[in-house]
Amino acid sequence: MEQSFNKINRVEGSLSLPGDKSISHRSVIFSSMAKGESVIHNLANGEDVKSTISCFSSMGVNFENRDNTLIVKGPGLKNLKKPLSPLNAGNSGTTARLITGILVNQDFDSDIIGDESLSRRPMQRIIDPLTLMGAKIQASPAGTLPLKILGSRKIHAIEYEVPVASAQVKSCVILSGLHLNDETKVIEKISSRDHTERMLGLKVSYENGNKIIHTSKKDFPVADEYFVPGDISTAAFFLPLALLTDNSELLIKNVSLNETRNGIITILKAMGGNIETENTKQNNGEISGDLLINTSKLQNIEIPSDIIPNIIDEIPILTVAGIIASGKFSIRNAKELRGKESDRISAICSNLKHLGLIVTEFEDGFEFDGDITNPFPVFESFEDHRIAMSFGILSLLLPNGGKVDGFNSVAISNPDFIKQLKTISR
Ligand code: S3P
Repeated sequence: MEQSFNKINRVEGSLSLPGDKSISHRSVIFSSMAKGESVIHNLANGEDVKSTISCFSSMGVNFENRDNTLIVKGPGLKNLKKPLSPLNAGNSGTTARLITGILVNQDFDSDIIGDESLSRRPMQRIIDPLTLMGAKIQASPAGTLPLKILGSRKIHAIEYEVPVASAQVKSCVILSGLHLNDETKVIEKISSRDHTERMLGLKVSYENGNKIIHTSKKDFPVADEYFVPGDISTAAFFLPLALLTDNSELLIKNVSLNETRNGIITILKAMGGNIETENTKQNNGEISGDLLINTSKLQNIEIPSDIIPNIIDEIPILTVAGIIASGKFSIRNAKELRGKESDRISAICSNLKHLGLIVTEFEDGFEFDGDITNPFPVFESFEDHRIAMSFGILSLLLPNGGKVDGFNSVAISNPDFIKQLKTISR
């Protein structure tokens, strides 16, 4: 589906966004593991979290939607049922990688499949630590889906240093460690998003500048009530829109402000963005608050390499801010972008070239300069929700607007994107 966007004159009003995708996945996963009834408020409504729900549903977990909340009845430790068919993780890397850590500890064999994009993404990064724990997992020769996970294996605790900053790899090992008597230690040289350890209240220590997360069976999730804050990665698309449209003011209520996720705010502020944080509060170990955004002039800055894991999902929209901001935009040390829902380095560079910008692509990033020379751009989404939304926002900022193909991919994280835009566009 091709979506057209016209330039908007002003952004005004307020938005309350659906729940953070990472926190939603974890709320569903922990509730599905726990024994008894959990309640989840403001769960993300995209396809990815539905994939997680569907996987646990086929393993006997009971889900019921009641007045905008999800009620989950979990079976407790080792009581999941053998699924009758392969578990389908759809487009969701978080679903595939996190549930594998649980499945290796079950007494049944299981299979995980996914869509075309997920079937290209690297799974060796979780197979390696789980194999060290004693698991047996078969993958395609390229180390990708489909996975066959053998059950009834003797799994044991390990000490594992995560080789790339990845919350999915870290969480996969932690979820396996939750089934074991001995302590599993996960070591991070560079911190990734920390929802898993926060929401489970795990012990964290620091040694020689590394972060160590400790876990064992005593941390196994119990039934709980989750209040999921709005998704900062969804809010991120509206920040450059409000900052870069004249005479605009936008309030985004109750957004996750987790310190391992709020790098987009830090960078946009350093670029000159007027973003204020108000009404902060805490639930389930997670901080959230309101964001007030006002029109600003933005200037590109040097992006420090240690903030990259914190902004990994926001680099497409940060690039859009960089196109309109003054000065040259450059991003490096972001090779992980090549293994996301699309190869995001190549996807972004292709759209930038389509605009007429002078682009240099690196293995771990890109830079660009020059002026937009294409007055009527039609961007490619590469079937990637974040690429689609980013170039949709750029279109709203261009004099003649623009078009984005394959726009239906936004349903992966935010099916209401167009509806939300309509409520704040003047
Ligand atoms: C996620 C971790 C990140 C992120 C993804 C969600 C999570 O992936 O890009 O959208 O919820 O743990 P990596 O762990 O592969 O960096």
